[in-house]
Amino acid sequence: MSDQDVKSAVRDWWADNPMTYGQEHGVTDYVDPDGTVRKVEFGSREFFETADKTFFQWNLPLHNDKGTFGKIFDYEKFRGKNVLEVGCGMGYMAMNWAQQGAKVTALDLNPVAIVQTTSRFKAFDLPGEIIEGDGRSLPFEDNKFAHVYSWGVLHHSPNIESSLAEVFRVVEPGGTVGVMLYNRNSFLFRYIVQYLEGIVNLEHRVLSPLEMGSRYGDGDRREGNPHTWPVTIKEAKEELFAQFEDINVEVFGTDVAGIVDHFFPLLASRLMPKPLLNALIRRWGWSLWITARKPK
Ligand SMILES: C[S@@+](CC[C@H](N)C(=O)[O-])C[C@H]1O[C@@H](n2cnc3c(N)ncnc32)[C@H](O)[C@@H]1O
Repeated sequence: MSDQDVKSAVRDWWADNPMTYGQEHGVTDYVDPDGTVRKVEFGSREFFETADKTFFQWNLPLHNDKGTFGKIFDYEKFRGKNVLEVGCGMGYMAMNWAQQGAKVTALDLNPVAIVQTTSRFKAFDLPGEIIEGDGRSLPFEDNKFAHVYSWGVLHHSPNIESSLAEVFRVVEPGGTVGVMLYNRNSFLFRYIVQYLEGIVNLEHRVLSPLEMGSRYGDGDRREGNPHTWPVTIKEAKEELFAQFEDINVEVFGTDVAGIVDHFFPLLASRLMPKPLLNALIRRWGWSLWITARKPK
């Protein structure tokens, strides 16, 4: 496939399967605490509020009294400064930054994300620039942003290095970045994808490692996700972020409890001592949170 074909395939897949945080990507059915399934209209205020609640719940350990995702984002430091999100999806994180006073630019490859984030910003009466574009060739001048972040995006394009080179180019000297990429050395990838699906179910005979990652990494079993390729901590530190300094990697894993319960049914994760579960998460979680600084 040519570069342009891959780009179109990635864009179209995400436009068809946008991040609704419903039962599957693109689906706007949500299960209420009493078990009833509620369908909400895509793009309505109820949709944003419901999807946000689910996204919030998924990432519960990352919030604090300074705001949603306050443990990983220093909102105060960047008040009034230019902040860029690469791959904004439905715009939840960008909205948080705008509410905290940053001058937000949110970019995404797929037009549905742009329409939704634009209408979210309108609905919540927030300023911000919402732009359709590719993380691999950012439409901004060098050194424009004090902070650039991206959550679950750059592993969906081939040539992750070129996206990171672009992030490096547009962040100012001394500026910081935060990037969440999927973790190849995770329970999800090594056990569920490679062992159970690949070896036990024999899919490795017909699918390449990249095809396995794409099939199970996002939109589980919904065919057609063109590219999902997780990275390792070593790759992140030694290759992908090598041009940055102060590189730090944390492992997050809201998926780990569910996988523990898969190994040992009967809600083992609830009975397991918290420090043990946290140790498993810090080693085997699905998300790497990589922070770094561009040298001055
Ligand atoms: C898993 S979603 C994450 C969205 C959002 N960050 C979130 O956490 O809800 C991936 C998003 O990345 C976008 N995307 C994929 N490749 C991209 C690229 N090369 N440049 C910009 N956005 C991209 C997709 O359109 C999709 O909206």
